[in-house]
Amino acid sequence: TGLVTLDPGFVNTAACSSQITYIDGDAGILRYRGYPIEQLAEQSNFIEVSYLLIYGELPTRTQLDDFAQKISRHTLLHEDLKRFFDGFPRDAHPMPVLSSAVSALSTFYQDSLTPFDDSQVDLSTIRLLAKLPTIAAYAYKKSVGQPFLYPDNSLGLVENFLRMTFGFPAEPYHVDPVMAKALDQLFILHADHEQNCSTSTVRLVGSSQANLFASISAGINALFGPLHGGANQAVLEMLEGIERDGGDVDTFVRKVKNREAGVKLMGFGHRVYKNYDPRAAIIKKTADEVLGKLGDDQLLEIAKRLEERALGDDYFIERKLYPNVDFYTGLIYRAMGFPTRMFTVLFAIGRLPGWIAHWREMMKDPATKIGRPRQVYVGPGERTYVPVTER
Ligand code: CMC
Repeated sequence: TGLVTLDPGFVNTAACSSQITYIDGDAGILRYRGYPIEQLAEQSNFIEVSYLLIYGELPTRTQLDDFAQKISRHTLLHEDLKRFFDGFPRDAHPMPVLSSAVSALSTFYQDSLTPFDDSQVDLSTIRLLAKLPTIAAYAYKKSVGQPFLYPDNSLGLVENFLRMTFGFPAEPYHVDPVMAKALDQLFILHADHEQNCSTSTVRLVGSSQANLFASISAGINALFGPLHGGANQAVLEMLEGIERDGGDVDTFVRKVKNREAGVKLMGFGHRVYKNYDPRAAIIKKTADEVLGKLGDDQLLEIAKRLEERALGDDYFIERKLYPNVDFYTGLIYRAMGFPTRMFTVLFAIGRLPGWIAHWREMMKDPATKIGRPRQVYVGPGERTYVPVTER
């Protein structure tokens, strides 16, 4: 069987080559298709970044308008899929609802089961980009017992999502432009991050030639975990805990260092960044702006003190632990009115174009083989079976 190398967590093993995202973790650099994240966050928008990630180039005006228009034409969910939401308990976490509904798209669009047909893949791409925000808004509406709102396709993707989430059928909903702009920027910052756990999952599932919907549904489930996308929810719960205990960050940091009851400083540390996460730097600025406009925040103050305390502490310095993308996002989402459980759903909406881009790149890559890691067997040697009566 040849020599196998043991690399738990794939710390050193590249599973593919990719042209999508470049990260230099020591220098704190992130680029999508060569464009620095700072420029995209400042000057682009989520739809354009989605196009860039998926098709490799910035779109022309016509390409961008055409892409945006196609997406807005596919935002409706099939009425039968709408009823799907009734089957979940009222207090269901929206992440498994999201992954289940995305998985169910394969049953509504059985044309998606031909993953090598380019025009079909384009259609599945558009359907996903268009429908995920609708599904996410319905998962939210279900959890608060409010009626679903049909999409209003005169609005942009982010505005439409905000309206479907926070609006009511009988009332006009005025989208707050500060909120819409901030959410659009957060989606850009989450849009891709090369071979993270969920993207690798999308690739692994897709390598069996499973269709786009099945692969993305698996990615959403991978993102659910608190060490990955679930960290944004965990950070906010951590900050609330510190606030409840009187806002003492020193005691909390001591607990983390003593590894008391598995307490980690959530929103800190990253497999690749051994420097300040460039996304966190942008988000920290947005947090100041948005929280200034949408209401001052005690928790932001705790977060800043916690960051300062950790960055000055040997434990974190030695291990090169810096704030990651999730450290400040939860505070912004909370100020926007999202309940904690929706935070990871927002991450999923942002990450979707990255997952799609990777799935498509993999399917086109002649070097792709089914993902099938090897193992180092450490179990018992050969043993002789003993019948149950003699055990
Ligand atoms: N708090 C306290 N100690 C930490 C933390 C933390 N947040 N992160 C890492 N460490 C310690 C870890 O205990 C280890 O110490 P030692 O060498 O003494 O055993 C050392 O730092 C190296 O960490 P690791 O766990 O080997 O690193 P990893 O690359 O396997 O894990 C990570 C990366 C992001 C899972 C981890 O840093 C972590 O659990 N952070 C908290 C959760 C979090 O914020 N996740 C979001 C990541 S960014 C967005 C995303 O991926 O969704």
